[in-house]
Amino acid sequence: MSRLDSFIRRLLAQRDILNAIAEDARRLEGDVLELGLGNGRTYDHLRELFPGRRIVAFDRDERRDQISRPDDADMVVGEIQETIAPYLNGQAALVHADIGTGHPDRDAVTLTWLPNAMAAALARGGIAVSGLPLEHAAFAPFPQPEGVPEGRYFLYRRL
Ligand SMILES: C[S@@+](CC[C@H](N)C(=O)[O-])C[C@H]1O[C@@H](n2cnc3c(N)ncnc32)[C@H](O)[C@@H]1O
Repeated sequence: MSRLDSFIRRLLAQRDILNAIAEDARRLEGDVLELGLGNGRTYDHLRELFPGRRIVAFDRDERRDQISRPDDADMVVGEIQETIAPYLNGQAALVHADIGTGHPDRDAVTLTWLPNAMAAALARGGIAVSGLPLEHAAFAPFPQPEGVPEGRYFLYRRL
């Protein structure tokens, strides 16, 4: 499969999973955390899915000039593994992380902290959606929505 095909399929899985869990997540109280704002396409989709909900976005880059970006109060700039500390309070309804690189060595470093951070940020019953697989005792597998192949994007429920 070409990298373009793989990229497209990954984004389709991301969108289809977020659409599928949105109703469930809307029933939960708490913020939505977007780890890796990038150019804000997913952030913009989250705004559509969660109108009126506080969505806090994280990135090492300020992304000040782009269209889809939260106000400064909800934009956390820096290395997520450091800046997420105040949010490790078990209060988020949904945490989405799209910070995989496709480089196994770099992703392995991310996976030394990401599962713990997402588990600590989420409320009980909250939902973790991630481009990287998360292994953590506090996460139960969550059935993939119909039509989303296993292993392309990952979905968990915080126990
Ligand atoms: C693949 S992009 C996210 C794409 C996003 N879903 C969108 O709609 O554009 C990943 C982003 O995460 C940021 N990022 C990755 N790892 C990070 C880290 N450890 N700390 C802060 N930002 C990080 C990168 O700067 C990049 O902007």
